[in-house]
Amino acid sequence: MKKVLHIVGARPNFMKVAPIHRALSERGALQQCLVHTGQHYDVKMSDVFFTDLGMPAPDIHLGIGSGSHAEQTARLMLELEKVFTSQKPDLVSVVGDVNSTLAAALVAVKMGIPISHVEAGLRSFDNAMPEEINRILTDRISDLLLTPSADADANLIREGLEPARIRLVGNVMIDSLLGARDRALKLSTLADMGLSPRAYAVCTLHRASNVDDPKVLTGLLTALAHVAERLPVVFPVHPRTRKRLTDLGLGPSLERTPGLRLVDPMGYLEFLALTAQARLVFTDSGGLQEETTVLGIPCLTVRENTERPITVEVGTNLVVGTDPVRIQQAADRALDGQGKQGRIPELWDGRASERIAALYERVLGVAPAELRAASA
Ligand code: UD1
Repeated sequence: MKKVLHIVGARPNFMKVAPIHRALSERGALQQCLVHTGQHYDVKMSDVFFTDLGMPAPDIHLGIGSGSHAEQTARLMLELEKVFTSQKPDLVSVVGDVNSTLAAALVAVKMGIPISHVEAGLRSFDNAMPEEINRILTDRISDLLLTPSADADANLIREGLEPARIRLVGNVMIDSLLGARDRALKLSTLADMGLSPRAYAVCTLHRASNVDDPKVLTGLLTALAHVAERLPVVFPVHPRTRKRLTDLGLGPSLERTPGLRLVDPMGYLEFLALTAQARLVFTDSGGLQEETTVLGIPCLTVRENTERPITVEVGTNLVVGTDPVRIQQAADRALDGQGKQGRIPELWDGRASERIAALYERVLGVAPAELRAASA
């Protein structure tokens, strides 16, 4: 049987790989190997997602952990080369734009193993973002470029990549969201936190450009404190951000800010329950811009750009930058009932993983006998 090897490493990877893994197991025509690089390792950044998403435990866990970009990427490459040598996959499937994504693609291309990049073609046009470098390079060396929206296809064509490698499959992360929404809404998350639907805001911040620069970070916190005067703001704090807050000695004053609630990172289902019923979301995450668009919740993206312009053109997202005054004004408008309305982009329909699974079977030329055995 032909073998697909999936790479997961960091939090935003899990909700993309889980539905692809499930679709392929249900069809049963391809063997799979799930490799967790261990780029994220805290229980709340990793393990809880496997449970919440119903994903099997990884077949291989590399325990790479944190480090500088060079250290982390180099360690990833050394370990992944050993895994690819022993596992002999017919296709390496990578998702998103984290260091684990690029490291796996670099190793695979040099070993002559075909690569599929899920969520290809997104561009912020900001080379100061490590993720932008990861996206550009991974796309350049991948054999299959599976895109979530037509703007991504256009970016790839503009960069001279062959149209035959590109397939618009839709947004696979939305498969996870739609599959989990009902379960999430049955949880007692809001009641446990003393919150009422549509009467609180949610904030996430972890982007290096926002949290590693004290001036930008304090500006963002000022804007949040202003919003917290109007309604509770729940802020699950990413480990990178927690570290910066501690280094700057900002933790205690934030804990005392009325209305602002700093909590630990949350599991997938609990966080979905929280965002699905929020009045407004502030974020610098990529995925959350897409999730709020599908949930119909106004989103203010506190960055200067987005690699997901469709969430602005079609969805509920507004890119408001990092200037506290501008953020406060946008928040006030949203809270005064002028939050952005939107539609759900095409092919964000919960079936992207089925399209991907069918494509993997076609490109790997799964023998009809194997398909028959699988469906018998
Ligand atoms: C990574 C991704 C980013 C993604 C984000 C989602 C890259 C370049 N960045 O950023 O695109 O949006 O994940 O969360 O791949 N840490 C822990 N425990 C963990 C993980 C991280 O304490 O489980 C702390 C460590 O201090 C670490 C820091 O967070 O040094 C940064 O982790 P890292 O994986 O390098 O990048 P993220 O900021 O999480």
